[in-house]
Amino acid sequence: MCGIVAYIGHREACPIIIKGLRRLEYRGYDSAGVALLNGQLSVYKKKGKVAELEAFISDKDTHANIGMGHTRWATHGEPNDVNAHPHYSTSERIAIIHNGIIENYAALKTHLQQQGHEFHSDTDTEVFVNLIEEIQKQNHCTLEEAVRLALHEVVGAYAIVVLSKDEPGQLIAARKGSPLVIGVGKDEFFLASDATPIIEYTNEVVYVNDYEIAVIKDGKLDIRTKEDVQQTPYIQKLELALDSIEKGGYEHFMMKEIFEQPRSILDSMRGRLELEAGHLNMGGVRAYERKFMTADRIIIVACGTSWHAGLVAEYLLEDLARIPVEVEYASEFRYRNPIITERDIVIAISQSGETADTLAAIELAKSKGATIFGICNVVGSSIARATDAGAYTHAGPEIGVASTKAFTAQVTVLTLLAMIVGHKRGTLSDTKLRELMMELNNIPSKVEKALLLNTEIEQIAEIFKDVANFLYLGRGYNFPVALEGALKLKEISYIHAEGYPAAEMKHGPIALIDENMPVVVIATKDSSYEKVVSNIQEVKARKGRIIAVVTEGDDVIPQMAEFVIEVPATSEVLMPLVSVVPLQLLSYHIAVMRGCNVDQPRNLAKSVTVE
Ligand code: F6R
Repeated sequence: MCGIVAYIGHREACPIIIKGLRRLEYRGYDSAGVALLNGQLSVYKKKGKVAELEAFISDKDTHANIGMGHTRWATHGEPNDVNAHPHYSTSERIAIIHNGIIENYAALKTHLQQQGHEFHSDTDTEVFVNLIEEIQKQNHCTLEEAVRLALHEVVGAYAIVVLSKDEPGQLIAARKGSPLVIGVGKDEFFLASDATPIIEYTNEVVYVNDYEIAVIKDGKLDIRTKEDVQQTPYIQKLELALDSIEKGGYEHFMMKEIFEQPRSILDSMRGRLELEAGHLNMGGVRAYERKFMTADRIIIVACGTSWHAGLVAEYLLEDLARIPVEVEYASEFRYRNPIITERDIVIAISQSGETADTLAAIELAKSKGATIFGICNVVGSSIARATDAGAYTHAGPEIGVASTKAFTAQVTVLTLLAMIVGHKRGTLSDTKLRELMMELNNIPSKVEKALLLNTEIEQIAEIFKDVANFLYLGRGYNFPVALEGALKLKEISYIHAEGYPAAEMKHGPIALIDENMPVVVIATKDSSYEKVVSNIQEVKARKGRIIAVVTEGDDVIPQMAEFVIEVPATSEVLMPLVSVVPLQLLSYHIAVMRGCNVDQPRNLAKSVTVE
């Protein structure tokens, strides 16, 4: 959450920064700002989207070769012009942009006020920049030294960039807990929260580590630890393609990403599912094969949609590998006193690889000796680097704030993992493995077929777009899909929606059902089909409006449901990969019809780096 971008080099900084902010807007979009250093240190900022900032600066002198920008997701202080970043120090000689939270800001603020510093905003960030100014004044030191000393005093998470009018030609950045990547060009450097603003200019990047400070001046990058120990920057080559972060003719990123799923699922299997050779490979599992063979238990930690993928994995791992699994909200797990042993494997699932709660859960599990296996989409992300081993989902950048293709890629990778571990542990026979491999290989084309339902689903969306509530029901493998369908709808259309295990409905939610309540039931042909049919009857008896997702050719449910969406048949354990698709489309169309911003829903951000 919050996107930061900066540039230092020979080009005009402002257009690069504005373009970068647009690419990072998915991380936060309640206000935006830039600071430009060109003899003067000028800050321009505006409540609203990057477009509003762009209009605001259109008549300003923005000529500069050094600058930085920020797009905000508010933590401290409401979204307005004053709280937008960058923030000046009291003297207006230093400016900062910050992604993260300073937890001890209140105590620091009181102290700084006593020293005569003035505060205009409600943000913790303004405290940070004044702290740097105060330290520089007290110690008569360089900006670099003052930043280093300040980092010893702040508690919390940050990725910052600092500019000073008194030390022009220099840009200083630091990170702890919030992502920061530096693009290395020829005599120029690009800094950003992720690589998307950078790839247009260079594919050589350095991921800054926690507690490191980067100083860029005179065309050189110097990285040191907070203790002032010089580090050798490790330059990595990015494999991101520019077209993967653009809309490619779709009206919204979300729609593009829904439609990308046949390919992204395939990409997540590439090199892992070798049908002809009859092999499954996953480097991360190979590295920890013995651990997986002897694990007493697997604990899955994740948030949101990734947590739903974790729930699917619980069914998969228990069914195929016969290992007990617990699925935990990372935010709860980290503050409990969980019982974890060295014989446990903790699987952390995260699209962004930056979710603060998931990272903290990993650190806790690590401290108790568990083996950590990460499943991330963003290469080089904090979680990917904090885990012992893992597997990337290779879904490509997911820009729409509501997760779609990342979910199906996570489920694909988790399916492969369960198959590999089950086969190695002897709980999945050669024949069953072969069958599942063949069926998994068919999933991209089945998802392709499910996407053909788009127009039909758009018509259903038209009928339900104005309702106030939705209920989603599913059992077994389709229960997490019900949760995911409900989450997708509420986050982008702002309609209240709840997901429930179908049989739980009678223990409470059934009271909500009347002729105004749409109930989406995922009722594909599987081992609980008959039971779900009974649940549909229960809804129908109370006049609920049933929208059923069924297996092609079902001739029972169409007689009961008002609307039927037919998806291709597949194995029960693979069904979430197909049955989630119509639910993604339903949410998308309802949200568009309600005039919502589907790619950037209110109050949300793509990467939740605060707890
Ligand atoms: C829902 C959504 C969020 C994320 C959650 C975890 O569409 O996007 O619920 O799934 O914030 O994010 P990651 O997977 O990046 O850890």
